[in-house]
Amino acid sequence: MLPGSIPSAAIYGSAEAPGSGRAVSCARFRVRRHAAGSVLSSRAAAPRPRRAAGPYDPTPGFRFPSAKPFFAASRRGRPVSRGAAPAAPHVPVLLEAVLPALAIEGPGLAVDGTFGAGGYTRALLAADPEVRVAGIDRDPTAITAGAPLVTESGGRLRLVPGRFGELDRLVGEPARWVVLDIGVSSMQLDRAERGFSFRNDGPLDMRMSAEGASAADLVNEAEEAELADIIFHYGEERRSRAVARAIVEHRRRERIETTAQLAALVAGVVRPEPGSPIHPATRTFQGLRIAVNDELGELVRALHAAERLLEPGGRLAVVTFHSLEDRIVKQFLSARSGRAVQASRHMPGVERPVPKSFRPVTKGPVGPSEAEIAQNPRARSAKLRAAERTDAPTPEPLTSLETLAGLPGAAARPGGRR
Ligand SMILES: C[S@@+](CC[C@H](N)C(=O)[O-])C[C@H]1O[C@@H](n2cnc3c(N)ncnc32)[C@H](O)[C@@H]1O
Repeated sequence: MLPGSIPSAAIYGSAEAPGSGRAVSCARFRVRRHAAGSVLSSRAAAPRPRRAAGPYDPTPGFRFPSAKPFFAASRRGRPVSRGAAPAAPHVPVLLEAVLPALAIEGPGLAVDGTFGAGGYTRALLAADPEVRVAGIDRDPTAITAGAPLVTESGGRLRLVPGRFGELDRLVGEPARWVVLDIGVSSMQLDRAERGFSFRNDGPLDMRMSAEGASAADLVNEAEEAELADIIFHYGEERRSRAVARAIVEHRRRERIETTAQLAALVAGVVRPEPGSPIHPATRTFQGLRIAVNDELGELVRALHAAERLLEPGGRLAVVTFHSLEDRIVKQFLSARSGRAVQASRHMPGVERPVPKSFRPVTKGPVGPSEAEIAQNPRARSAKLRAAERTDAPTPEPLTSLETLAGLPGAAARPGGRR
């Protein structure tokens, strides 16, 4: 995932509304879309891998060996053959730290919950010829673009469309490794028609999975207080109230349909920070993106899903790009590695130790090297945390994380949710 781009609560997707309307929900926000198409608001430092199958080269053009020939060649100590491969426009972040943290040694199943351009998946396949990979992505274009890699993998890779919040259900068999590289890909960011960026004007969309309510639905239909909450909590924009007011005033005259329209509107009320290259609309876009894709709720569900799916001794590695995401991963791993107590759902007011379902692999967050930042400035804010699954039974879900993923003001608003 990328800094300044969007990472993904408990409700996402679409549901039939009573009567002729169709209710689509995104994050904590609900919009009711009527049959005619109009949208009405309804408020409602880790060990090294013991046996690496071959060096991984993250530059475009790297091609991992198919299982059989590669397996044979590596056994005989011969170099791995490299051929032409389709350009991979997304540069994988923190890979040199992620692979050792996972300690890949086949045979076994690895789950890449954020397949994207396949950068991590290629590396997992190259790390050991006996490793199989299930690559998940909610973006159908990522799944389609990964088809050649499935062919190249010689049966070792399957791609699964869907959300990583349900990765255990999507994968359906125990895994030894789960990796998540949270956020959006360069392909998503750089394509104007996806509506993630204001650098090139495009429709105000921002949906990774091309379904549910878009950012345009959100800015044109959500209440001012909810917009302000989203922009403040998910975008960390101090001028959130002014931005929300400007949006609501503007939409009385005309709908806000494009990224350029929204960026200009925000720039009218948020001053650029002196000397900062960051566009004043960056934080607003981040907030909307997180809400549209329910990114933090997805992350909370994914951590629990990985906990259920991993075999004892299996490893989880999560790369995040901003403090909202990192705080969720940190608190989850801290609670699950026995350094926290949890209120009992059955005995309110009673706190008890949580079974240690994970043991830490990284001591604190691992960031990129200066060399990586120089090569890929988008890696600057990346943080890796990794842990090993113990044989403890899966504890109850950590409900406090839902609070971190939600909007504090939501419960107070009519029809709002936490
Ligand atoms: C930063 S990119 C991953 C890049 C990948 N590691 C690589 O090296 O090519 C993040 C990807 O995760 C996907 N994604 C984000 N949230 C998701 C979710 N909740 N479920 C499944 N995929 C998701 C995005 O569509 C995007 O393709």
